[in-house]
Amino acid sequence: MKINEIYQGDFFNLIKEIDNSSIDLIVCDGPYGVTEKKWDKVKNIQEFNLEIIKILSQKLQNGGALYLFGKPDCIDFIDYKPYLTLNSKIVWYQPSRLAQGRNSYTNNYDIIAYFTKGKAKTFNLNEIRVPQLVELTHRKRCENVPSVVNGKFGKTKFNERGKNPGDVWGDIKQLTYKSKELLSREYLHTIQKPKKLIERIVKASSNEGDLVLDPFCGTGTTLVVCQELKRDYIGFEINPELVEVCKKRLSEIKLEQEGMLYSTSRHVGFTEKEIISQNLGEIVYSKHK
Ligand SMILES: C[S@@+](CC[C@H](N)C(=O)[O-])C[C@H]1O[C@@H](n2cnc3c(N)ncnc32)[C@H](O)[C@@H]1O
Repeated sequence: MKINEIYQGDFFNLIKEIDNSSIDLIVCDGPYGVTEKKWDKVKNIQEFNLEIIKILSQKLQNGGALYLFGKPDCIDFIDYKPYLTLNSKIVWYQPSRLAQGRNSYTNNYDIIAYFTKGKAKTFNLNEIRVPQLVELTHRKRCENVPSVVNGKFGKTKFNERGKNPGDVWGDIKQLTYKSKELLSREYLHTIQKPKKLIERIVKASSNEGDLVLDPFCGTGTTLVVCQELKRDYIGFEINPELVEVCKKRLSEIKLEQEGMLYSTSRHVGFTEKEIISQNLGEIVYSKHK
């Protein structure tokens, strides 16, 4: 299978074309089994995820990482241990969900299960540090508390470059109707993820030149981030319209990277087919009829 390509089709067929032990990182944001959308209808999400884990673990290199997105129960009561090691169940915290619970508490988080094949070969903490929450003076006082100085973690020191983002990510908001990044209202919530979220994952668990697989790539956020961060990628998507969306996003990024795009093409009133001509560095957009 060629790299830096998106393939239209069903994951369960396309994945057979990927060599075993060839992938450094997999960003897997597939069905959650909670909406009425055709692609999201799954009989049993835990069994579905176990099947995916089994298949994807073969494709990962030793030490490679899989980030699996889902609802809080997405990996409950399944035995993934023979295949991968679960390092963190990251909580992607969304304090202001539009859909509010009436009979129970509103679900305010998704899970991003961070697995590796054995011990992680890459974890670039310095690439994903976030601002320290405590002031330096307070932190220094804490570092001198006897139990800290003498304890197991006595060497922990305040790092001016920031702290580990931890396993509750409340600093990255889901896209809203107002987000400039949102390609279409149709893709809100269930589909398009914020680039910042995927960037954290790609920066942490891959290096330049690594191969990243997104088996359910939707609008192509992972592929775009990979292109920007100089990772190679392979994407699968079953919906042909979304494949076109991905291709358009990728060609725009490429043009931006080449310094050729002098106007953004995501203005209201323009759609995927709008880049109609590209000649000698000049791009002409035609208005959607
Ligand atoms: C949650 S969305 C992915 C969103 C993506 N991370 C983004 O930022 O745009 C899941 C995608 O998986 C696709 N999908 C569902 N089942 C599939 C399958 N069996 N094979 C390939 N793609 C599938 C859907 O069409 C949908 O676009």
